[in-house]
Amino acid sequence: MRAAQTIKSHFTTIAPHLIVSDYGTDARQMNTTILGDAMPTPLLIAPMAFMAMAHSDGELAVARSAAKRGIRMVVSTMGNYTLEDVAAASDTPKWFQLYVYQNRDATSQIVASAEAAGYQALVLTVDTPLIGRREGDVRNRFHLPNGLVAKNLAKVQIEHIRPTHDGSGLAAYAAAQRYNLKWEDIEWLRSITKLPILLKGILRDDDGQRAVDHGAAGIIVSNHGGRQLDTAVASIDALPEVVEAVNGAVDVLVDGGIRRGTDILKALALGAKGVLLGRPLLWGLAVGGEAGVGQVLDLLLTEFDLAMALCGCNSVDEITPDLIFRR
Ligand SMILES: Cc1cc2nc3c(=O)[nH]c(=O)nc-3n(C[C@H](O)[C@H](O)[C@H](O)COP(=O)(O)O)c2cc1C
Repeated sequence: MRAAQTIKSHFTTIAPHLIVSDYGTDARQMNTTILGDAMPTPLLIAPMAFMAMAHSDGELAVARSAAKRGIRMVVSTMGNYTLEDVAAASDTPKWFQLYVYQNRDATSQIVASAEAAGYQALVLTVDTPLIGRREGDVRNRFHLPNGLVAKNLAKVQIEHIRPTHDGSGLAAYAAAQRYNLKWEDIEWLRSITKLPILLKGILRDDDGQRAVDHGAAGIIVSNHGGRQLDTAVASIDALPEVVEAVNGAVDVLVDGGIRRGTDILKALALGAKGVLLGRPLLWGLAVGGEAGVGQVLDLLLTEFDLAMALCGCNSVDEITPDLIFRR
């Protein structure tokens, strides 16, 4: 695939106020409310599969590190630890990311387990019925290293990701097991859970509107980090029109290429209620486990605080659309 189509910091430019007169000398107020829940920052952890490939503590390390900062983690279906173990790793509320499988009973069991384990929302990923052509995975014939298992799938007897004779084992697994969602399936999912459902992978205004019509409680504008459809629109470019189409009916979040505090500020100025952070956490995890994840989070939040200060924003409500340079 070509380079990820994600947030392009240098194309979305901030126009700070010339005279910044009224920001305090203390840290800015980053707290916000998403889906009715108070959160200390607008930053969440994006769902990512197989974290134990980066560090043996995998999802547990990320959950603990996020919890120390009160940050919500969206836990992937494709974890190397069970969703129960990740839930128990910290007290901070978490959301659960769901893929729908052709085996509906298995999917229902996963949903029931997530609900029983105390997850507070479901994030239904809608852009991955098949895996994009990830040439690295094809070349390396991607499969899980010996000893690592996709534990939530193993529990419901969904076939493992196995080595293939050629190509990506992950792509072969998805083609065999995943279900190609239709809009009416959202109603099916709503009928089997009380949890609010966010749709992750929306990139168009009409789909944003349909998501609301089908009862989504929130939307995550995402192109899966540019890892699905080559040349798909960058999520930051798609964000404003989705926000406009949804017109405040539900909260809209965004992920893809959040790398700097200024990226968080720009996403909020363009109408996102929150942002999800992906790959940088895996880099921190690989280098330093739980502490490495913490360093990445702290770096980003410190940068975000500074960006707010330099834009004259004392609280996230003061991050307004006029901060985006449009001429
Ligand atoms: C290694 C890896 C695994 C991922 N696994 C999942 C997953 O299981 N479910 C999902 O919805 N998204 C998954 N994603 C996509 C992320 O949630 C997110 O949309 C994407 O990485 C964009 O954020 P980033 O640019 O900060 O990495 C994965 C991304 C990566 C890099």
